[in-house]
Amino acid sequence: MISLKNPDQIAKMREAGRLLHEVLTKLRAQIKPGVTTADLDAYAESLIRKAGAIPSFLNYEGYPATLCTSVDDAVVHGIPNRKQVLREGQIISVDCGLILDGWQSDSAFTMGVGEISAEAAALIEITEQCFWKAARLCIAGNRLGDVGHACQEWAESHGCGVIRDLTGHGIGREMHEDPPVYNYGVPGKGLRLRKGMTIAVEPMISAGDWRVTCDPDQWCYRTRDRSLCSHYEHTLAIREDGLPEILTLPDFKWEDAE
Ligand code: MF3
Ligand code: CO
Repeated sequence: MISLKNPDQIAKMREAGRLLHEVLTKLRAQIKPGVTTADLDAYAESLIRKAGAIPSFLNYEGYPATLCTSVDDAVVHGIPNRKQVLREGQIISVDCGLILDGWQSDSAFTMGVGEISAEAAALIEITEQCFWKAARLCIAGNRLGDVGHACQEWAESHGCGVIRDLTGHGIGREMHEDPPVYNYGVPGKGLRLRKGMTIAVEPMISAGDWRVTCDPDQWCYRTRDRSLCSHYEHTLAIREDGLPEILTLPDFKWEDAE
């Protein structure tokens, strides 16, 4: 069931999104060689709790941390670990969600640790572009197939793979609501977007094969061929007309986008 949000509810999600953006901005500044993924997790949890919010991933279906920290060939749901020390040249996806006053937000970015290869940097850039190609089509009246197709087209035309086993999702009072938001699709097919829908759009793009395996911890997904993978996510709200509001990028204006 899809729950449409009214303007007051979207205002609450905007506050949750603003806080999450602040948390992720502070985390970005901490990513450097020598830091452990557990350090990042502890810092994120303290920032969220200090702001009076709740880390939404912690204990979600038994998940043991505030962040997902997915390094190199890890796609998503990497569990932070005090033995995992970040090294120059790696790439890390940091995914975080929080609940503020009963409303959720969810966002992720991928960045390099110190200097990274041109190939890794290109993968991160292509993934962000996939997000923007998709987000631009999140307009009332468009269909989810249009959104997924835009992402897929951009990724595949650059020789990258679109992870199929995991998707974006509706979000609101719950982290995962209907509908699933696929990162691939057929234009003109799928659910029609409507004003008041709030969705997390989150392309997961590999430099090689799109197929994944899951680690023995039952959480961390990796590319089957162990190629690098990048992930980028924002929570957004469908408006009555025009381009969506990016709730987890508070000061963003579409006029400033490329
Ligand atoms: N951010 C993830 C998503 O977009 C959720 C993390 S799963 C959890 O769906 F179990 F870690 F919470
Ligand atoms: Co999500």
